[in-house]
Amino acid sequence: FLKKVCTLTAAVSAAAMLTTGAVSAKNFKIAVGDGAGSSQEGTGKFFIEALEKKSGGEHTGTMFLNGQLGSEQDTVNEAAIGTLDMSLLAINNVTPFSPTVGVFTLPYVILSLEDAEKLTQGPIGQELTENTIRDAGVRILAWTYTGFRRLTNSQKPVTTVADLQGLVIRVPKNEIMIETYKSWGINPTPMAWSETFTGLQTQVVDGQDNPYTTINAMKFYEVQKYVTNLRYIFSIEPLIVSEAVFQDLSEEDQQILIEAGKEATVKSAQYLRDIEAEIKESLLAKGMQIDDPANDEAEFIKLATEAVWPQFYDSIGGVDKLNTVLTTIGRDPV
Ligand code: MLT
Repeated sequence: FLKKVCTLTAAVSAAAMLTTGAVSAKNFKIAVGDGAGSSQEGTGKFFIEALEKKSGGEHTGTMFLNGQLGSEQDTVNEAAIGTLDMSLLAINNVTPFSPTVGVFTLPYVILSLEDAEKLTQGPIGQELTENTIRDAGVRILAWTYTGFRRLTNSQKPVTTVADLQGLVIRVPKNEIMIETYKSWGINPTPMAWSETFTGLQTQVVDGQDNPYTTINAMKFYEVQKYVTNLRYIFSIEPLIVSEAVFQDLSEEDQQILIEAGKEATVKSAQYLRDIEAEIKESLLAKGMQIDDPANDEAEFIKLATEAVWPQFYDSIGGVDKLNTVLTTIGRDPV
């Protein structure tokens, strides 16, 4: 009996320590959509390093790569209800939960890494973060810059819109991307990211689009041959934290997370600058054929911007929002 009482007392005091915060070290569980060597993993490493340093070694994080914790869109739901701490995923998989971030997936809006940095690290990025907290219960801590989404397929070189006809292309479950392919004359196949490699391998779909670093990290060169250097979306991939988890932290820890996120964001841009050209070369060495779109992509650009932008003015918060984005990056408003 005495032994039982002692065990019970030990258990009660351990529980009390946890609830009073006496034991506050955290190991944040971070879902990652992509695999080893991806830009997402890079940002995760930068974030964990900064978190450990800024918290004096008290807090850390553990990444679960390759969609082990569910599809990217599922992880947003899980973070929203607080059963998952963090997720690294493509912005296009946040858009269905917080439509105003769609301004970053509108075709041909972001035309360079510098545009992406300016938008995400300035007032627009801040506003979108507040919107995702309001709409989806998740807060953006860091931004990954992954590069332009390049079209890949297993069938033939594609340089014109005509070449695209007849191909079955996987897209994320994202209305803006679906409508973009429709503007190019094909009906794409929406499919979760976690199912895409198998979809390509079994030829349920012929192709997909994602940046070089993602194509490489996900080993798509094993099941895809042709790459078209489209630039319709510059892929931005946030690190999100559950707002419920964030609000449970002390103010000091919240600040540590925010600062670690800023550091990871800056390092992510440098990482892309350092590795993108090398990754492109390694895709060529692995046997992929990389082509530029004809006429500097003019046909793709005209069809997509004319047909798609107006369809999404309402969901992104009005045409004025798009104009603010365009003028921020030195372009003419519509
Ligand atoms: C997607 O295509 O669903 C995402 O961009 C994949 C990713 O997170 O890399």
